[in-house]
Amino acid sequence: MKMHYSWPVLILMTLVLGLTACEDDSKEAAFTVADLPTERDAEAGKELFEKGDGDAPACKSCHNTGSEDGATGPGLGGIGSEAGNRVDGESAEEYLLNSIIAPGKHIAEGYRNNMFSKYDDKLSKQQIADVIAYLLTLN
Ligand code: HEC
Repeated sequence: MKMHYSWPVLILMTLVLGLTACEDDSKEAAFTVADLPTERDAEAGKELFEKGDGDAPACKSCHNTGSEDGATGPGLGGIGSEAGNRVDGESAEEYLLNSIIAPGKHIAEGYRNNMFSKYDDKLSKQQIADVIAYLLTLN
């Protein structure tokens, strides 16, 4: 039988995925900064941030890049200079990587752990490296 998902079913699946993400607060990072490519394209990262890719939702759907906090996620204006001060012992790059692939590891103050939790699976390491390069430009 050929599987065919209608829009309401897809929306429902997205909701269920979102709920699962809420409970998944102990997820550990699947890889480290050392595993990321060193050639990075901040422009490609910006595009990914704004548009997402396939099953990976756009970061912009929950974050803006100004000082205002979005409805779901914190505003990421200034994150490039603040990331290195968030968690003791984590460099800016490490903090940003962990925020993307293991968002439950450190929860931004005032927020709940409801960031999309499957970017480690849905984005390539190159795409993650590119988006980190872009975030580092947000000062
Ligand atoms: C479904 C909504 C959602 C999406 C999509 C999302 N985020 Fe988040 N993000 C959140 C929430 C909620 C938090 C705060 C809780 C936490 O820290 O996990 C957060 C936290 C963060 C933080 C930590 C901010 C700080 O001030 O310390 C970073 C960095 C971040 N997200 C980057 C991204 C990037 C990059 C993407 C896209 C690849 C993305 N997010 C996609 C909701 C989202």
